[in-house]
Amino acid sequence: MAGESASTLDGGATRVVRVETAGVESRGVQGADPIVPPNVPIIITIDGPAGTGKSTVARTLAMRLGLDFLDTGAMYRAATAIMIDYEIPLDEPGELVSKVIGADLHFDWTADPPTILAWNAPIDHRIRSEDVTAIVSDVAAIGELRSHMVRKQQIIAAQHPRLVSEGRDQGSVVFPGAAVKFYLDADPEVRARRRADQLRLDGLDVDEAAMLERIRRRDEIDSTRSDGPLICPDDAVRLDTSALSVEGVIDEMERVVRERVSALIDSDG
Ligand code: DC
Repeated sequence: MAGESASTLDGGATRVVRVETAGVESRGVQGADPIVPPNVPIIITIDGPAGTGKSTVARTLAMRLGLDFLDTGAMYRAATAIMIDYEIPLDEPGELVSKVIGADLHFDWTADPPTILAWNAPIDHRIRSEDVTAIVSDVAAIGELRSHMVRKQQIIAAQHPRLVSEGRDQGSVVFPGAAVKFYLDADPEVRARRRADQLRLDGLDVDEAAMLERIRRRDEIDSTRSDGPLICPDDAVRLDTSALSVEGVIDEMERVVRERVSALIDSDG
C-alpha cells in the first residue's frame, strides 16, 4: 500500500482523518468480523495492573476484530531476562539498554500469539520464569529502558498499524491518540486468586497470601514510578473485571469498540 492514502481512526481527535500509510505493512489477521477495512489503521489500548487478564482478553479481542496483538509486558520481561542472564546490575541502566538494543527484541508475527525473540532466538519460555517475574517491576521502572521500549513499541505500531496493544502505559504514554482505550481493574484478592489458580493448573504449589503480597508490591512499584506510571487515562473506558468472566469482559470490550468505531465513521460522513 506504499504511497496510498487511507482512513485512520484517530481516537484522540474523535474523528476519522486521512493519513499517508506509505511503507507500513500489517499481517492482516483474519478476524471473525474485521472492525475496519484492511487498509485502515486502528490502535486499541488496554492498560491495567497485573492479574486482570489483559493478555488473554487483548489476544482474543484482537482475533475477533481482525487486528494484531502486542504484549508489551513480554518486552519488559525479555529485558529482565537479559539483565539476569548477563548479570547486569540494576543500577547500570546504560549497560542494560545497550545490551537490549544489541538483542534486537522483536516478535515473530507468524506465530499465534506472536513469540518474542532476542538475538533472533525465541525466549518465550525464559520470560515467564519466577526469577524474571520477581524483579520485572523493578526493571520496568528504569527510565532509560522505558524510553527505548516506548520508541520500539511506536515503531512496531508503524509496521503493524492495526493493533490491540496491552501493557501499563499504552493509552497514557505510548499511543495517546488510540481510537479506543481500556483500563482493566480488579480487586487485588481476585487477581491473586486468578494467578494462583492459573499456576495450580500448571501443577505448581501456590501460597496465595504470598501471591497477594507480590501483587500489591508490583502495583505499588508500577503506579508510583516516575516514568510511565500505571494510571487510568482520562479518556479510557474503565472496566472492573472482579465479578466478570473472561468471556464477559471480552464481549463488553468488543461491544464498546464496535459502537465507538461506527460512531467515529458516521461522524466522518
Ligand atoms: O503484564 P506483565 O505481567 O507481563 O508485565 C510485566 C511487568 O512489566 C510488570 O511489572 C509491568 C511492566 N510493564 C510496564 O511497566 N509497562 C508495560 N507497557 C508493560 C509491562
